[in-house]
Amino acid sequence: MDAIIGIIGAMDVEVQTIIAQLESDQKSVVSGMAFHQGSLGGRTVVVVRCGVGKVNAAMCAQTLVERFGATHVINTGVAGSLSPELHVGDLVVSTDAVQHDVDVTGLGYAPGVLFGMESVGFAADAWLREAVCRAVAEVTPDINVRCGRVASGDQFVSSQEVKERIVSTFGALCCEMEGAAIAQVCARNEVPFVIVRTISDNADESSKSSYRLSEKEEAEHCAAIVARTIALLG
Ligand code: ADE
Repeated sequence: MDAIIGIIGAMDVEVQTIIAQLESDQKSVVSGMAFHQGSLGGRTVVVVRCGVGKVNAAMCAQTLVERFGATHVINTGVAGSLSPELHVGDLVVSTDAVQHDVDVTGLGYAPGVLFGMESVGFAADAWLREAVCRAVAEVTPDINVRCGRVASGDQFVSSQEVKERIVSTFGALCCEMEGAAIAQVCARNEVPFVIVRTISDNADESSKSSYRLSEKEEAEHCAAIVARTIALLG
């Protein structure tokens, strides 16, 4: 079976560059989301902007798998830094993803663990991670890249206090609003995934002012890496 790579970004800026590179872009709209099916680096890909947040992201991932037959999913975009070693423009490749806003502790579960589940994170696929790391080394060799945990929640993190809680509870490298929801859908469907995020802000009180300035450039960076990753997958 040939691979079909689903590529999800939350915002236009995160997917526009990839869509522009597609050969034979075939667009179909499902649940208000425009899925762009085409070819990139000789691979069949479906690129889609899911909108911000975990529900949008989960709907989108399920549609990618169910209707478009995605065999692999890459989530790209920007994220807030949770590490003093990650600055705006740096890159995070996911080892796993957690939902930092899941709280069933009242029933004895650890923070972030969903009801009925045993572990906190959803593991990213080693093959996809490897391809992303090779792409980064080729496309942006000077970029600081870290592999680690991505924390997602329906929350734009813009306070030191919240940031510290996520770091101390989950040990994540960056925070965003979609990745772990996509990871959960992928895990349910046994579809491998990886999250690639460029740091756009520090997820603290400075985030609101610094975020918009860097968003476009950082997202385009990420898109270039994703395009190269796909070319390398063969
Ligand atoms: N995406 C980019 N920066 C973010 C932040 N600080 N919190 C959540 N999602 C983000």
